[in-house]
Amino acid sequence: MTVDAAALLRRAAFRMDPERAHEAALRALQAGGPALSAASSWLSRRDGSVGQSLMGLEFPSPVGLAAGYDKYGRAVRAWGRLGFGFAEIGTVTARPQPGNPKPRLFRLPADEAIVNRMGFNNDGAAVTARRIADARRGAGAGVPIGVNIGKSKATPLDRAADDHLASFRLLRGVADFVVVNVSSPNTPGLRELQDREHLTAILGALRDEDASMRRHDARAPMPFLVKLAPDLPDAQIEDAVDLAGELDLAGVVLTNTTIARDGLSHPDDPAAAEQGGLSGPPLRARAGAAVRVAARRAAGRLLIVGVGGIMDADDAWDRLAGGASLVEVWTGLVYRGPLIARDITLGLMDRMRAEGVGHISEVVGSDLGA
Ligand SMILES: Cc1cc2nc3c(=O)[nH]c(=O)nc-3n(C[C@H](O)[C@H](O)[C@H](O)COP(=O)(O)O)c2cc1C
Repeated sequence: MTVDAAALLRRAAFRMDPERAHEAALRALQAGGPALSAASSWLSRRDGSVGQSLMGLEFPSPVGLAAGYDKYGRAVRAWGRLGFGFAEIGTVTARPQPGNPKPRLFRLPADEAIVNRMGFNNDGAAVTARRIADARRGAGAGVPIGVNIGKSKATPLDRAADDHLASFRLLRGVADFVVVNVSSPNTPGLRELQDREHLTAILGALRDEDASMRRHDARAPMPFLVKLAPDLPDAQIEDAVDLAGELDLAGVVLTNTTIARDGLSHPDDPAAAEQGGLSGPPLRARAGAAVRVAARRAAGRLLIVGVGGIMDADDAWDRLAGGASLVEVWTGLVYRGPLIARDITLGLMDRMRAEGVGHISEVVGSDLGA
């Protein structure tokens, strides 16, 4: 596909209702498997300078797909072929659930932003696990596949650990890493799970369950990460980082969407008044600052995944330099099109060459000082 074709496709998509456009994009990725395979060496052009070995997994590019784009695990094979270095499937809940009533996805084109209140619409852990397992057979996904899990809406907060355990038991065999999402603004009360007590209960239970399952199947320990909200005060991000260390987690993902409406150039856009989480460039500064807070606190002990407002290679570079080893995109895929992973990866390689940097790991944390 030429860049002009991508622009044309985008223009057509923007004439559609946002959720229908998203579904059409996913269907095209599913159906376009053979074409994607044929083009995949062009789409995923890169060299070893951007590859990293993290959590015992090989990430060929630091640019991944953020959770919530492929909630149903319908395009698991497509992401690596499209040039992404990894993908997070989900959020998946223990039971299937329809999510909030539509409309629940809104574009703010002047800011290249999105407001959503999807509410974890998904097929549930059992169906999603089967779908991911099918996709991973044979040639498989080619890149690490993480599964993002969250609490079912019907489950009370004090039973959240059981709900996560039920999902985990079903999804463990198909996930390279697991992200626990306690930061969506669209399930009532969910973000309360970011406090120390709830996080300890959920992540402690998952870690113990993994250890007990490993006694029977001798798999490697599952890398667990926790995904946090940008609206947490810095002190709570630091506390969550400390706790992640205490619980032996692999890392933290920063950040989810924000309930704030700061940083909009057109705050009078009616979509800004919709209830839900805001993503895209207006989130960039806060998400970047949260990564720096976490990276300083973690001091290299945890993997930091940076997400929020990353639209191009310079945004990705800043997030890596602020201490993220991996970055993810969601809103950028809508506004910059399906070549975004390729564009960012090649842009990072160009800048590394220009700045005399031999390997992407030298960029990670380079802005944090000694
Ligand atoms: C429509 C939509 C649905 C999302 N669904 C989820 C989700 O199910 N789970 C999750 O952890 N994050 C979800 N997110 C948040 C993204 O993964 C990401 O953290 C956020 O959008 C910021 O990145 P961006 O600015 O690149 O979009 C969703 C975002 C959008 C726009």
